[in-house]
Amino acid sequence: MAREFSTVGVVGLGTMGAGIVEVFARNGIDVVAVEISAPALERGRATLKGSTDRAVAKGKLAEADRDALHERVHFAVGLAALHSVDLVIEAVPEHLDLKQRIFAELDRVCRPETILATNTSSLSVTEISVATSRPNQVIGIHFFNPAPVMKLVEVVRTVVTAPEVVADVEALCARLGKVDVTINDRAGFIANALLFGYLNHAVGMFESHYATREDIDAAMKLGCGLPMGPLALMDLIGLDTAYEILDTMYRRGGRDRRHAPVPLLKQMVTAGLLGRKSGRGFYTYERPGSPLVVSDGTTPPATESAVADGARAIAKVGVVGSGTMATGIIEVFAKAGYEVVSVTRGMEKSAKVCEAVKTSLNKGVVRGRLAEADRDAALGRISWSATLDHLADVDLVVEAVVEELSVKKALFASLDEICKPGVVLATTTSSLPVIDVAMATQRPADVVGLHFFNPAPVMPLVEVVRTIRTSPEATATARAVCAALGKTGVVCGDRSGFIVNALLFPYLNDAVKMLEASYSTADDIDHAMKLGCGYPMGPFELLDVVGLDVSLAIQRELYLELREPGFAPAPLLEHLVTAGYLGRKTRRGFRDHSHR
Ligand SMILES: NC(=O)c1ccc[n+]([C@@H]2O[C@H](COP(=O)([O-])OP(=O)(O)OC[C@H]3O[C@@H](n4cnc5c(N)ncnc54)[C@H](O)[C@@H]3O)[C@@H](O)[C@H]2O)c1
Repeated sequence: MAREFSTVGVVGLGTMGAGIVEVFARNGIDVVAVEISAPALERGRATLKGSTDRAVAKGKLAEADRDALHERVHFAVGLAALHSVDLVIEAVPEHLDLKQRIFAELDRVCRPETILATNTSSLSVTEISVATSRPNQVIGIHFFNPAPVMKLVEVVRTVVTAPEVVADVEALCARLGKVDVTINDRAGFIANALLFGYLNHAVGMFESHYATREDIDAAMKLGCGLPMGPLALMDLIGLDTAYEILDTMYRRGGRDRRHAPVPLLKQMVTAGLLGRKSGRGFYTYERPGSPLVVSDGTTPPATESAVADGARAIAKVGVVGSGTMATGIIEVFAKAGYEVVSVTRGMEKSAKVCEAVKTSLNKGVVRGRLAEADRDAALGRISWSATLDHLADVDLVVEAVVEELSVKKALFASLDEICKPGVVLATTTSSLPVIDVAMATQRPADVVGLHFFNPAPVMPLVEVVRTIRTSPEATATARAVCAALGKTGVVCGDRSGFIVNALLFPYLNDAVKMLEASYSTADDIDHAMKLGCGYPMGPFELLDVVGLDVSLAIQRELYLELREPGFAPAPLLEHLVTAGYLGRKTRRGFRDHSHR
């Protein structure tokens, strides 16, 4: 029989604690909610009220249920109020000495059978447990932010946690409607170990002016389908908490430089810019605690004036190539009203591309997303050619040929001879330096990267890559074109992986390393990222879709360019590729897809 938890205590009612109180009270469990001072207690009470009022306003909670929920919560200053609870969850700031002091005190105050749990994200549960006389009853219960919403709970057992305590806490999680993964005590557990290197990397991109905060966040939301961008997520987590987590992970997790907090973080914390909770972090909020972002000095104007930025007028576009990307890009431009000249290496290839574009447009008609007349007009705007000479009068060329530098350089040298002055020349490369391609021409100022995502007609994001020679006008033109295509163009520097791949693939690689270290299973890791962080797919699902060979190639490029030891491809990834397990396309990758 699982233990009955009728009353639980929560210590610390900040970002996490207030949400944890709500989770228990919503599920009919009495809560003793404790803070360090009366003002802090009032803040916690206000957070809980704000959250439940929002739930009522959104129709997710009945008024009577909200009132009953509040009835179940008893607020108190000081730990003494926890004398008769069945379980305590501690959610005070991420400092080992503070947590150890609190656990020693809880050990004195609470009944001998009470389970003592910490919500720490990165500290050692074992080290916290030894501050008590009952380390076998100490466990980690790691909720995700916002606790009432996120389904995942990581249950962290130490080497001394009693198995029945683990079983009781697992049963409690189920009662709360949460999905738990039970794991050993390692820095960052599953989700944060995979998340924080990525978040810190994104802060580094922002700090080095590689891209703006809006562009970094839009890239990850639109390119990967994440619920929030990394900088908005840092603001939600709290920059002070994020700093402490990174710092602990750096020290406990083998001094991986990727976890050494980016200096800007420390400066922001010292300046009191803690994120949402203080009303300002990477973004500015309506007021402290509000989720509503308001404009500030760095917010880009709502309607950017392309003309003021020096963007050139584009009417006619050349697309070079005959693969998947070229086909999608031709369709995107033609549908948006541009005149398109498609150039392939022979009329046979042109016929194939033409067929593929027609098929795709027809699908749009069948699904009711495109009128027949619009399909015909789009097709009417495309001319098919097998010679680059037909690009003499276009305003923009988008190159999407094979990913080989020598081929792309030769092509750009030819475009340089053929195209009229002032044309913007764009490459869709996803891994080659754009500057190499630009320097094959006499007009590097007019060369940009336009990195579309596959499938181009569907994916809403385009990375606009500017090299150190790209002119502001060429960048503005590329961005204005993206907007005219109905896509979000994010501008970034010319570094391996641009924004999305540079942030995504090291995280996937880390997941492989975690699996290889036998810390957890592919299923649990996928669960953790989907249910804890709201990712649309877990890392192993995504790797199998993208292809392990493609992922390995990108990771190798990142490692070669940035020389970051933590980016070294996971040996397991290399072995699977060598063994021919490339993912869905070979029916086997991290998972067996042969029966599907
Ligand atoms: N922020 C997140 O996204 C997140 C997610 C999961 C876990 N965590 C973990 O949860 C814990 C709390 O983090 P947070 O972001 O909620 O911090 P926070 O700074 O928002 O809140 C901490 C609260 O603890 C209170 N407190 C401090 N000392 C206390 C004491 N002696 N007794 C009682 N209360 C005290 C503070 O007044 C404050 O309200 C940390 O261990 C953190 O790593 C955070």
